[in-house]
Amino acid sequence: MGPRSRATLTVIVSLFLSLSCGGWTSVEALTPTITLYTVRRQVPNLTPTARTIYPDGYFFLPPTVGPPRGIPQVIIGDNEVRAARDLTSPIIGALRLYRSPGFATTSSDRTYAFGLIDFFNEDTISISGVINASVPVGAFNELAVVGGTGKYRNANGYYQVATLPESNSATGVIVFQVNIYIS
Ligand SMILES: *[C@@H]1O[C@H](CO)[C@@H](O)[C@H](O)[C@H]1NC(C)=O
Repeated sequence: MGPRSRATLTVIVSLFLSLSCGGWTSVEALTPTITLYTVRRQVPNLTPTARTIYPDGYFFLPPTVGPPRGIPQVIIGDNEVRAARDLTSPIIGALRLYRSPGFATTSSDRTYAFGLIDFFNEDTISISGVINASVPVGAFNELAVVGGTGKYRNANGYYQVATLPESNSATGVIVFQVNIYIS
């Protein structure tokens, strides 16, 4: 290897190192572009915002109560979006979500989800990705931000969602924190 190719290699290696380290540092340091709270109401709640449309007729229920894991399902949601964690804060939009849990044994805790946040005006943020149903309360799942309209036109980035501890399956009110990072 001559001095020129050695120099080229050094440049490539340092570029790689600075990119990879820089990437990690900035991911850790990033502040979400938007933080929102979404609320899913499910049975036994009297005004559910999620429903299994295939097999038809089931409302969304936990896997041990509703349609069992391991069979094909499609779930639709029209969940409340709030700017604050407090459930009396104003509703600022709707999370319209299609979800399809894996039904092979290798993917039964992975739910494909796609949809959007509709801010009830020209502004929307589209998302697509996988939710691991087994992550603990407080842990984030990550989906991709795949576009948007209005002030989010051409948005890309990622969308993190975690179930919050005030969720209560006895009342069917499940509260999520959503951190959206848009670049
Ligand atoms: C889902 O999350 C659980 C809990 O964190 C983890 O043990 C499991 O490996 C994850 N499954 C997949 C397929 O990522």
